[in-house]
Amino acid sequence: MNSKIKLYLGDCKERLKEIENNSIDLIFTSPPYADSRKNTYGGINPDYYVEWFMPIAGELYRILKPTGTFVLNIKERVVEGERHTYVLELILEMRKRGWFWTEEFIWHKKNCYPGKWPNRFRDSWERLIQFNKSKKFYMYQDNVMVPVGEWAKARLKKLSETDKLRDNSKVGSGFGKNISNWIGRDLAYPTNVIHLATECNNKNHSAAFPDSLPEWFIKLFTKEGDVVLDPFMGSGTTVIVANRMGRKAVGIEIVPEYYKIVTDSFISLQQTLFEESKNYVTNNVE
Ligand SMILES: C[S@@+](CC[C@H](N)C(=O)[O-])C[C@H]1O[C@@H](n2cnc3c(N)ncnc32)[C@H](O)[C@@H]1O
Repeated sequence: MNSKIKLYLGDCKERLKEIENNSIDLIFTSPPYADSRKNTYGGINPDYYVEWFMPIAGELYRILKPTGTFVLNIKERVVEGERHTYVLELILEMRKRGWFWTEEFIWHKKNCYPGKWPNRFRDSWERLIQFNKSKKFYMYQDNVMVPVGEWAKARLKKLSETDKLRDNSKVGSGFGKNISNWIGRDLAYPTNVIHLATECNNKNHSAAFPDSLPEWFIKLFTKEGDVVLDPFMGSGTTVIVANRMGRKAVGIEIVPEYYKIVTDSFISLQQTLFEESKNYVTNNVE
């Protein structure tokens, strides 16, 4: 893949077929939720969500490198008073088709305002489900380290014998929960709960990611020059952030107005870069 940005207009189920086998390092995406945004870009009936998604997942499997990662942002909606099970069914079906369900991150939307419902509280988190083709994938954990924090001062002073011994990681070279290893360090690894605020809708898209969300995963799973794909790119947050971070970016969007938002962003932000891939973009406008 030579150009730095490739943008496709159309249904990703079809356009993904144009992408080479084993060529993508990170797929980071949020597909349309089940029926939930009917008024904007259409929704998928929750009862058929897995059936709709599997042909797309098959293409994603083909184009992801064996060392790459697929992160799917999704959340089950409430149907007739209970959570629908399509996300759980999707995970089971993905596993049947060869994907490893490696991890699940929680995106805590820390600026959610409260609401009032008779039987539940305001939703303020979403799933980010990590799938891999192989158990050996690239992960640059040091890139997302965080300050050790106040807990360390009190906790590390009073280590019990168990604290010093327990829970060394059973995989590879990690040290798991053995907290004595943090003595004298300024930075620690984060947990799998990511606390990020949503952004006001200033991107002309009702479901745009905050930039910090794809940024965190791009740092964690890719290095400069790697290829990042968002097959449901919407207003293009993933591709714009990936490009800013020196990664190659590939995006697909079915709604022409959203697709144009992204091409316009590249025109206004990165005239030179856009010029390089302009022919490609234009050739792919249907
Ligand atoms: C949840 S939004 C993604 C928003 C995006 N993360 C952002 O930051 O703007 C899903 C997007 O997928 C697009 N979409 C829906 N079905 C599609 C398909 N079959 N192929 C490509 N894009 C599709 C929708 O038009 C919508 O813009």
